[in-house]
Amino acid sequence: MRITPSILNADLANLASEISRIPDADAVHIDVMDNSFVPNLTLGLPVVESIRRHTDHMLDIHLMITDPDRWAPAYAEAGAESVTFHVEAAHAPVRLAREIRRLGARASMALSPATPIEVFESLLGEVDMVLLMTVEPGFGGQAFLDMVLPKIRATRRLIGDRDIWLQVDGGVSAETIARCAEAGADTFVAGSAVYRAADPNAIVTMLRETAQA
Ligand code: DX5
Ligand code: ZN
Repeated sequence: MRITPSILNADLANLASEISRIPDADAVHIDVMDNSFVPNLTLGLPVVESIRRHTDHMLDIHLMITDPDRWAPAYAEAGAESVTFHVEAAHAPVRLAREIRRLGARASMALSPATPIEVFESLLGEVDMVLLMTVEPGFGGQAFLDMVLPKIRATRRLIGDRDIWLQVDGGVSAETIARCAEAGADTFVAGSAVYRAADPNAIVTMLRETAQA
């Protein structure tokens, strides 16, 4: 069970120190939004390059952008260990996943809540992780969508015994994480649950224990 906190709800003017507050996280989840694929704008490549210089944590980049084919490889080149693109936005997802891997990062595909996994089943052979959105992408602090639970189960079945991580993102908290784990998720993004707490690292540990229970 991996906990990968999103810094979206952290103090974005103090990223290095915010990241240092979660030493026991398995990765730092960084949400890149372009105000086109989603109606919100966050940060991009120069900020990720700076973050890389300030932490040894695994960087888990979640690209919520149009034209990931053009931009995703640069994040791998910047030293991110994992780069996730949305299948709804990618023009040539097989080529893109292979390019990300060629550059030394884990390749990952994300699906918004209404996107069926079955359509993208053939891509499972090209990726190291599947990210299932459990809210509509764009904002932190939204309510978890229970309608995604059957898709988590279906994705776990399709993955079978392959070594592909299954990440859930959106509304993950002490209250919802057990349902996700039970359905087959093994990697959990939590944004507001972690960064709205007085002790973010304690929440990371608590979430991992709850997922494992
Ligand atoms: C939303 C982002 C998430 C977000 C999660 O589009 O992809 O990573 O930060 O935040 P919470 O955990 O608050 O839903
Ligand atoms: Zn995310």
